[in-house]
Amino acid sequence: MRSLDEELTDLADHYRWFAQVEAAPVSPRYAQLAAAVAEVLAFLGTLPRPKRQANLLLGALQYLHGGPPADGAQLHERVTGDADRLRATMLARATQTNEAARCAALLPVLAGLPGPLALIEVGASAGLCLYPDRYGYAYDDVRVGPASSPVQLRCAVTGRVPVPTEVPQVVRRAGIDLNPLDPADPADVAWLQALIWPGMEERRDRLTAAAAIAAREPAEIRRGDLVEQLPGLVAAMPTEATVVVFHTAVLAYLPAPAKEAFAELVTGLPVRWVSQEGVGVLPAVRERLPAPPADDEARFLLALDGEPLAYTAAHGGRIDWLPAAAALG
Ligand SMILES: C[S@@+](CC[C@H](N)C(=O)[O-])C[C@H]1O[C@@H](n2cnc3c(N)ncnc32)[C@H](O)[C@@H]1O
Repeated sequence: MRSLDEELTDLADHYRWFAQVEAAPVSPRYAQLAAAVAEVLAFLGTLPRPKRQANLLLGALQYLHGGPPADGAQLHERVTGDADRLRATMLARATQTNEAARCAALLPVLAGLPGPLALIEVGASAGLCLYPDRYGYAYDDVRVGPASSPVQLRCAVTGRVPVPTEVPQVVRRAGIDLNPLDPADPADVAWLQALIWPGMEERRDRLTAAAAIAAREPAEIRRGDLVEQLPGLVAAMPTEATVVVFHTAVLAYLPAPAKEAFAELVTGLPVRWVSQEGVGVLPAVRERLPAPPADDEARFLLALDGEPLAYTAAHGGRIDWLPAAAALG
């Protein structure tokens, strides 16, 4: 069987051949377009396979040029004209968006646990989901949390969402990430901004405001693998607090054995476990759903200690509470 690398090289060669042999004599425009595709494919072929993601390429282009290319021609110009810097950025950086709006789904669960809370986020990125008590919320028209916070999160709800009357007390914030980003570092914040897609502009101001909150009150984010680092971090938490281990949009990046190892580990630790992941990411949680999800279900599944509670919008802003969800506490 041919490797992906070989296929990519062949594909670039095919586009070059098409440009030069087939198109050039009759259609200079097609020749130009096919040559442009070949050059971009050839550039991607110089990168290790995990570094060829569309999101990484487009994010790096935004990061280096302050915004996305206007069109395909500009993309080609930037890829070929600035290949070394682009390659270096793609090798140095990773796709690790951080979305504070996901806190709106976490809050009803966190507020239902006995406080005070010590929060541990695995796969924390810059840790912006570690400040649920510092953001304000509007669940439909019910307001919760500090009205003066520069981060105000709107969240539509259906079902019997236990919207809290106040935010929980958080006495410790900690996290683990393979590559923690520093919310106080302008380059890291610029990278997070670059990962936001055109068309999702409302996320930018929220990111800037949440990063400023996190920078003022830094969380301890340990560098490393979440399975390896978790027991040590849990042991370092204050004993008088309820220790909550949570994660959102993280476990899909792990191979199946690592996901299983994490689920086994977290259920054996003296913690509460809040997960918010794609519906197929944790099969054991999915199996506990009262009804099987649709094949194309794109929402996340929110769960407490492995028990499904609600479907939530992947980037925040919506909670659909499950009719049969267990009581919290
Ligand atoms: C898509 S980001 C989500 C960040 C944040 N949880 C949020 O919801 O905004 C996923 C994060 O998980 C981290 N990550 C992936 N695999 C990991 C692992 N095995 N151990 C620790 N962190 C990991 C990545 O580095 C990245 O920062």
